[in-house]
Amino acid sequence: MKPAMNATELHAHKKADVEGMLEAIAHRWSPRAYAARTVKPADLKLVLEAARWAASSSNSQPWRFLVGVQGDAAFARIAATLVPFNQAWALHAPVLMLAFAVAKTPHGRSNPYALFDLGQAVAQMAVQATALGLATHAMGGFDREAAQRLIGAAEEFLPGAVIALGYAGDPESLTDAELYARELDARTRKPLAEIALSETGETGDPGKPFAF
Ligand SMILES: Cc1cc2nc3c(=O)[nH]c(=O)nc-3n(C[C@H](O)[C@H](O)[C@H](O)COP(=O)(O)O)c2cc1C
Repeated sequence: MKPAMNATELHAHKKADVEGMLEAIAHRWSPRAYAARTVKPADLKLVLEAARWAASSSNSQPWRFLVGVQGDAAFARIAATLVPFNQAWALHAPVLMLAFAVAKTPHGRSNPYALFDLGQAVAQMAVQATALGLATHAMGGFDREAAQRLIGAAEEFLPGAVIALGYAGDPESLTDAELYARELDARTRKPLAEIALSETGETGDPGKPFAF
């Protein structure tokens, strides 16, 4: 039987259809099928540099990444924190990272922006990865307590997400029917009118769309 879509067709199918948008943003998507191809250390470094150069509150740079490369101990430890649904596919990614935030300033005050800043760093990482032909997939489906044990029990260390990094692979490699179907799904988004507002409404009222 002819495959429904190969990796090249999927790449085009997943692109956000927005004229003028940066290619690396339009083409970023979160695959679950990964090619059996390693990530060059120089590319892994560049992806982490992109995270390093994100903006952050008071330039606190609260992001941290525990990096695991398939076959090493950190990879196995990060993989073990994932819920079974994620383990079913993410173990085939060549790199897994546990992204966490240090939510305290050097002066001991709490930093309420730490997770916001971590998210920005991960977004930059994703765009840089896309520009290199790689892909990332963030996962919130992991055991928080197990992740906390990995990064240290201090309460200011906040696990954010596990990130898979690698080259998108052949969707046919996903033998689970649900994973396969999700891999071929079109990417969808809420209309801009729902998220860009000119006035916020009363409680329960979504407000008025911004008029471009
Ligand atoms: C914080 C966060 C947690 C996520 N958790 C999971 C997860 O546990 N498992 C999974 O398969 N995908 C997970 N995703 C991926 C989202 O489902 C995906 O980003 C979303 O459907 C949009 O698809 P796209 O990234 O391909 O545009 C997560 C994404 C983010 C940002």
